[in-house]
Amino acid sequence: MKFFEWTPAYATGNEEIDYQHQNLFNMANNVHDMMSSGAEMRLAVDIFFEQLIQYTDYHFTTEEKLMQETHFGEYTQHKAMHDALRKQVIDFQKKFKSGEVDISTELMEFLKSWLTNHIQHTDTKLGKHLATQS
Ligand SMILES: [Fe+2]
Ligand SMILES: [Fe+2]
Repeated sequence: MKFFEWTPAYATGNEEIDYQHQNLFNMANNVHDMMSSGAEMRLAVDIFFEQLIQYTDYHFTTEEKLMQETHFGEYTQHKAMHDALRKQVIDFQKKFKSGEVDISTELMEFLKSWLTNHIQHTDTKLGKHLATQS
């Protein structure tokens, strides 16, 4: 049983966004597995943070471009949430690098809240808006 599971409840209706969200769920699952496996996971977690930071930025930039191209009315609020999440991921990486050992529960809660709240409440609004375009 996967810890983070993408289901149609997370669908925004936009193929590109949904595909990227599924990748984010997979990445979150990988880190969950790494952290539950315990010892010898530092290097793996280190690599994970770099990947997550890059992919998060890539994904948010995709959504931000789509919002701008389609003159989405809630761009400013949505972008502000992305910026807060971008910063939080970097803060987690810093904590991890500085040797704070027990970030795993906090990190899992953060990922869960991001993947559920942001996608279900904010990205789905963008998906509805995009569906009205073209
Ligand atoms: Fe978003
Ligand atoms: Fe998203």
